[in-house]
Amino acid sequence: MPAVAIIGAQWGDEGKGKVVDYLAAKVSIVVRYSGGNNAGHTVINQYGEFRLHLVPSGIFYPQMTGVIGNGVVVDPEVLLEEIESLRRAGVDTSHLYISQRATLIMPYHRLLDGLEEESRGEGSLGTTRKGVGPAYVDKAARLGIRVGELLDPPTFRQRLAQVLEQKNAIISGIYHAPALSLNEIYETYCSFGERLAPHICYTEPLLQEALGKGRMVLLEGAQGTLLDVDFGTYPYVTSSSPAVGGACTGAGVSPAHITSIIGVFKAYPTRVGQGPMPTLIEGEIQDLVRERAHEYGATTGRPRRCGWFDGVAAAYAARLNGFTAVALTRLDVLDVLPRIKVCRAYHYDGQRLEEFPASISVLEQCRPEYEEVPGWLTSTAEVRRWEELPPQARAYVEQIEELAGCPVALVSVGPRREQTIVRRPLL
Ligand code: IMP
Repeated sequence: MPAVAIIGAQWGDEGKGKVVDYLAAKVSIVVRYSGGNNAGHTVINQYGEFRLHLVPSGIFYPQMTGVIGNGVVVDPEVLLEEIESLRRAGVDTSHLYISQRATLIMPYHRLLDGLEEESRGEGSLGTTRKGVGPAYVDKAARLGIRVGELLDPPTFRQRLAQVLEQKNAIISGIYHAPALSLNEIYETYCSFGERLAPHICYTEPLLQEALGKGRMVLLEGAQGTLLDVDFGTYPYVTSSSPAVGGACTGAGVSPAHITSIIGVFKAYPTRVGQGPMPTLIEGEIQDLVRERAHEYGATTGRPRRCGWFDGVAAAYAARLNGFTAVALTRLDVLDVLPRIKVCRAYHYDGQRLEEFPASISVLEQCRPEYEEVPGWLTSTAEVRRWEELPPQARAYVEQIEELAGCPVALVSVGPRREQTIVRRPLL
């Protein structure tokens, strides 16, 4: 059986958590492969409503193994809190495993994320300040400390002492902030290590063995393709690889195993943090969409910018990831709009562009070319079959399908599991 990747196709917050939760009933392992607790996946089910930052969204199924892969940066304090809150709600977390190779988010990463953002002033990136960027910097600089090192306190202390010396030189020398204490971090992280120990293991063999036995593995993306450090709107991106390539390196799964790549698009894109968004909705309509859908960051509470569907960016994401199917979420949010705009091309410097530009300064100057389509002005929240959707809503979905160049297999019309229209099986 194959591996299936669920990829955010926009700037994150597309509703991947719901899609993963919906599919998890059929799979034996769900793996988070990138990002950290900058993500916030909202899942609503019989246990309650959860905002998962690190634990894979499939955790609610007792037959399923949840894996935090090597590509994730792990803040152990946040992870322990999340495990504890799941346990309190009656969710079994004994089948959650964390890769030895995952990089730890340390207190200096969180501190530096904030200090760096402040020093950027007007040019800030709008990071979540969770330490994610600085942790990936250290991973690439070979200064990262890995989850597995918590299991060997003497070596951990040695490594921490080395790294902290450098970090404190930056913290106090450049930012004039108080240096961090080696002993405090060491003690705290050792106690985190003891509590996490039952969950820490080599996770790649778990996945390889499951795939070898014909079981299905689901690769759960965090953030979105337009935030990818290589392919996103650089430098206004996160520091990891949410696009499909990151699923292989971040989980330890060969691309040969991935047979389905499902792109999750929201019916209207949103963006939180800085960086251009060519199809930003102007004025009151944006407020209406934001309030109706409660578009505020699940991690930071910041208001998200809301946009019209961007066909240029969608085609780019679809080609880059090789989507085999699209899951379209939050169609119901548009139920109240009499007219809906869809972007088919950009205009820049007298030219019509159909390709998503790599240059941020070009993207900042792009003006969208819209086609306006009629809305359906009726509630879709209770619709369960494709044929029952209003014709205008079906036409809108078909337009998205044409722009993405790939079939829309699933349409979500609300947060609950059952508020899902399946046009064709995803797996
Ligand atoms: P960082 O990942 O915290 O470094 O933030 C970099 C950019 O990515 C900022 O614009 C964040 O708002 C954005 N970002 C990071 N994680 C998410 C997410 O899960 N959803 C939406 N935006 C995100």
